[in-house]
Amino acid sequence: MTELDRSRARYDGALAATIEGIANRIRQRGVELSLANGDRLDGRTCLVTGANRGLGLAVAHDLAKRGGTLVLACRSGLDETVAAIQKSAKRPELVTGVKLDLGDLESVEETMVDLQGRGVKIDVTILNAGIVPREARRTRDGFDESFQVNFLANVLFSRRLLELDLVGSSPTIDLKPRIVVVSSESHRSSPTVDWPSFGTFRPWGMRQAVEQYGYGKLLLQLYTQELSRRLENLIAVHSLCPGAVRTDIGREAPSWAKPLLDVTMRAFFQSPEHAAVPVVYLAASRAIESETGIYLHARQRKAPSEAATDPGSGRRIWDEAERLLSDAGHAVGE
Ligand SMILES: NC(=O)c1ccc[n+]([C@@H]2O[C@H](COP(=O)([O-])OP(=O)(O)OC[C@H]3O[C@@H](n4cnc5c(N)ncnc54)[C@H](OP(=O)(O)O)[C@@H]3O)[C@@H](O)[C@H]2O)c1
Repeated sequence: MTELDRSRARYDGALAATIEGIANRIRQRGVELSLANGDRLDGRTCLVTGANRGLGLAVAHDLAKRGGTLVLACRSGLDETVAAIQKSAKRPELVTGVKLDLGDLESVEETMVDLQGRGVKIDVTILNAGIVPREARRTRDGFDESFQVNFLANVLFSRRLLELDLVGSSPTIDLKPRIVVVSSESHRSSPTVDWPSFGTFRPWGMRQAVEQYGYGKLLLQLYTQELSRRLENLIAVHSLCPGAVRTDIGREAPSWAKPLLDVTMRAFFQSPEHAAVPVVYLAASRAIESETGIYLHARQRKAPSEAATDPGSGRRIWDEAERLLSDAGHAVGE
């Protein structure tokens, strides 16, 4: 059994992943990714989705301090977020925002057209926004909200970035563009992909919330792996699970569970600023310039699950996502 196989086996199952996650936090104390002071982002444009709170907000602050030109893609709190990040930036005029609602595919289209109209070229795209809904909710596009926000809308977003030629490094900077996807270790405890009814809305309730979240992240991880294979040599595509982070991710938890969740978060979860480090590493580190397809769990390199790395499933997820988007009136091309 190789080290990668052992790592996969260790993460099969939600309980095992949680225990291993806490053990990892202890092991990783003192483990630093080599983000050098020279890993600056001056002259590079970085787009962060879900930048208005939690992990995305912490990442945006860090990128601004590193001199990046920022585009903050937010569903809510856009003006306040832009104002807050401008305070971290040496040149506040380099921080702008764009409205984005991943729960509405037309909003994704409008965001891309808006970016195209501004003539933006994005060097680093951070697909961070995500949700854990408490129950199935149908979006106006007819999909389950968890499926759409955690997976399908990210496909549309990234495919349009490429099609509309919005990705590109400044000619004065000798670095490849990067896409960094915020995934989750919960992809390991997802049910297998439901190919026969892929994308079909089905009701589910609170008991399935974590499972459905893991399912969305498995699909996202499969897509990310496929994207990195397809874009090899052109654009680096990396992904990560930030580990457990003290954010509003559990905001839809039932009210009886919230006090326990708060205590657990305070005791065991990292601050968003601490959790932002691996995201910023994948976005800015020059040490990984020649690589693509890196997956980090917090600060350690790992292999995503076997289900998430199978090339056949990767090709299939690519095609199935294209089909669903096309049926919903948002066809994506090559
Ligand atoms: N916290 C953890 O322990 C943990 C662990 C593993 C992975 N992650 C991942 O980390 C990422 C960030 O989550 P977080 O922990 O920072 O949670 P959070 O505090 O709840 O932030 C989630 C962000 O996603 C945005 N978002 C949600 N629905 C959206 C939509 N329809 N369109 C556009 N943006 C939307 C939110 O915007 P609004 O404010 O408008 O809702 C918010 O900015 C997620 O992908 C999550 O799955 C988190």
